Amino acid sequence: MERENRITGVFGIKGCGKTSLCKILTLRNDKPAAIIDYCGEYAFPIVKTVAGFLKYFKTEPRLSIRLVSHSDIERVLGILSRLERVLVVCDEVDAYASPHYIPEGLAFIARYGRHRSIDLIYASRRPAEVPRLLTSQSDDLFAFLIREQRDIAYLSEFTTTDLALLRNLSPLHYRKIL
Ligand SMILES: Nc1ncnc2c1ncn2[C@@H]1O[C@H](COP(=O)(O)OP(=O)(O)O)[C@@H](O)[C@H]1O
Ligand SMILES: [Mg+2]
Repeated sequence: MERENRITGVFGIKGCGKTSLCKILTLRNDKPAAIIDYCGEYAFPIVKTVAGFLKYFKTEPRLSIRLVSHSDIERVLGILSRLERVLVVCDEVDAYASPHYIPEGLAFIARYGRHRSIDLIYASRRPAEVPRLLTSQSDDLFAFLIREQRDIAYLSEFTTTDLALLRNLSPLHYRKIL
């Protein structure tokens, strides 16, 4: 059966190129994109409030959503999870989700986004620091340089390739491991 959405994870140590890859993947995706731009790195039209998001997401094909409060981030994710045919980008997802906690809207996208054609791209330094629900439901996983043995072991569950090579990747180089 053809997949109706794609969930993509990007991992690697700081400064190795994750955000740049997320930007490329966002530009390649033709769905309206909502970027939860936690660190303010995406040069799309910017909104800084939930009201701004509600106002401009209808008209801007890509929106950089720079929210500070976690409750606002959760509100936006909840609203996005009820839409259809959108791309949600959660760079620095570990800032507001962890193996022990996932915002309801993000969990809904991971579980049921397929039925609404909601694509998800998420990035984090360490795979072991993101909700298991995200990694377990991912269609694509990209890894840049990773040094931590536990993170390599975590990602090794998704492939038969020996991922020891991730420790020797040059900055800005990645491997697609799923
Ligand atoms: N393919 C690339 N070629 C040249 N410079 C790059 C490339 N990818 C990233 N960079 C630069 O490397 C730095 C770190 O990249 P970034 O994507 O912010 O990493 P991360 O999100 O993993 O911390 C940035 O200054 C970025 O502009
Ligand atoms: Mg980044």
